[in-house]
Amino acid sequence: MLASMAEMVLTAKKAGYAVGQFNFSNLELAQAALEAAEELRAPLILGVTEGGLRHMGVEFAAAIGLTAARQAKVPVSLHLDHAGSFDLIMSCIKAGFNSVMFDGSRLPIEENIRMTKEICRVAHAMGVSVEAEVGAIGGVEDDLSVAAADALVADPEEAVNFWQQTKVDALAVAVGNAHGMYKTIPNIRTDIVQAVAGAIPVPVVLHGGSGTPDDIIRRAIAAGCAKINVSTENQVAFTSTLRRLLTEDPELADSRKCLGPARAVVKGSIKERITVFGAAGKAVVG
Ligand code: 13P
Repeated sequence: MLASMAEMVLTAKKAGYAVGQFNFSNLELAQAALEAAEELRAPLILGVTEGGLRHMGVEFAAAIGLTAARQAKVPVSLHLDHAGSFDLIMSCIKAGFNSVMFDGSRLPIEENIRMTKEICRVAHAMGVSVEAEVGAIGGVEDDLSVAAADALVADPEEAVNFWQQTKVDALAVAVGNAHGMYKTIPNIRTDIVQAVAGAIPVPVVLHGGSGTPDDIIRRAIAAGCAKINVSTENQVAFTSTLRRLLTEDPELADSRKCLGPARAVVKGSIKERITVFGAAGKAVVG
């Protein structure tokens, strides 16, 4: 069933686990996440970036996400990831997304607060959950590229003040995390997570989940992260399976023969993440 992101992550924060946001940019990635969540009876957030929307189109993306939610026996939220404009947020809400992230992290903080507040006012009135970001998270996520030098570790006081002014449902905070695969073990500042999450009722969101070692994930959850976003590692698992199968059989013409196994590999990897997040068994199966 389609369920509220705000409620899912609040419940998770109180109980000490994290709900996984798994991004999709095609049907198979969405199905992989849905099947993984259903098999583990876990709540699920299906995310789509602006790049994913350009690839699928807003209507197709919404149709895939909403169909997944409708047929799911677990709570599913359809979330717009890292949106930079009010207009895009409105078109996704119109298409049926029930959760949006406004990313104003590269704006001056006053402007980020002003726009986030405006988006909360409109989205909350329509029952749509809102995530926002303080401190720019490094790395590359689709169109978004933040050089290491510009990736800021957020000031906890500023993050808490941001929440007090905006009342977002989940707050992404730059804590040494980065989008894309890590080349070295990331230094995730769980002290900052704790300082922020301990001072606000809603959870901190950990972006850049791909490649993060399990022990760091567990520490981040213990510090107050209750939403963790994962994308790149699933793309890597998907395309490397396709590459292997197409190389092994250059005559392969039926795309289902590689898309199906690639979907299965991603499902396995998502199941591992959901288990580490502690979310397995946390959905009430209808
Ligand atoms: P990764 O691609 O590094 O997993 O990050 C995903 C993310 O944070 C999406 O918002």
